[in-house]
Amino acid sequence: MVDTLVVESITKRFNELQAIDGISLSIPPGTIYALIGPNGSGKTTIANCIVGLLKPDSGKVLIRSIDIQKEPIKAKRLFSYVSDNPAIYPYLTGYEFLRLTAKLHGFTKEETDSRIKELENLFPIKDILTTTTDGYSRGNIEKTAFLAAILPKPTIIIIDEPIVGLDPDSVKILGDALIKFAKAGGSVLISTHTLNFAKTYAQKVGIVQKGKLIKEFSITSKTDIDGIYEQTTSNI
Ligand SMILES: Nc1ncnc2c1ncn2[C@@H]1O[C@H](COP(=O)(O)OP(=O)(O)OP(=O)(O)O)[C@@H](O)[C@H]1O
Ligand SMILES: [Mg+2]
Repeated sequence: MVDTLVVESITKRFNELQAIDGISLSIPPGTIYALIGPNGSGKTTIANCIVGLLKPDSGKVLIRSIDIQKEPIKAKRLFSYVSDNPAIYPYLTGYEFLRLTAKLHGFTKEETDSRIKELENLFPIKDILTTTTDGYSRGNIEKTAFLAAILPKPTIIIIDEPIVGLDPDSVKILGDALIKFAKAGGSVLISTHTLNFAKTYAQKVGIVQKGKLIKEFSITSKTDIDGIYEQTTSNI
């Protein structure tokens, strides 16, 4: 079976800075892949190249074999992206934002109602979803953005820093939802600084430093992720 996401030797330069320097990675169906690495190492730039917000200088990104640069609309139908600073229209309520998302994905009214019913209790924010998002806390914006991301049942979800604003209960809810999504065949790419979140929920981890993927490893119950991170990043 073809991997959901294939990144082939992408590079990206910002003036003098080689922000991404030959990154290749591949995520099969049913896998949660976590990118970890120091501030400024290139995680967000990689995500932006994958989703087509940045054009890599060289290399390519295939989403289910579709080249995001050559067939952007076709590729973009397959994934959801939650950036590290999710934007939600401030004048919409959470419910309106979810309905808009469903509409943009071509859902009928019945499909929209039933999908929102499935999702509205994931986090305990049903009351909040009736209010306009300009009053939301950071964590509740992130939760609403996450609900919008899984709503269309994408092939892959890409989330840059999924849990920075979340309380511990919500971190578990989001992590468990990602596991459920992956068990149903979805793929996930996250970038995170929370090594324990990567260890608990990801099956595979990549360490990025200075724009290079310097180590990849699978997670088992015995993986010492803190030790590997410390050792790998201190070698450079
Ligand atoms: N639009 C841009 N113009 C110039 N330099 C940029 C731009 N975007 C990112 N950079 C630089 O590219 C490098 C990689 O940044 P990036 O945001 O990808 O890192 P990151 O790993 O996501 O960091 P963090 O952990 O802080 O989120 C940094 O040195 C950053 O300053
Ligand atoms: Mg970042």
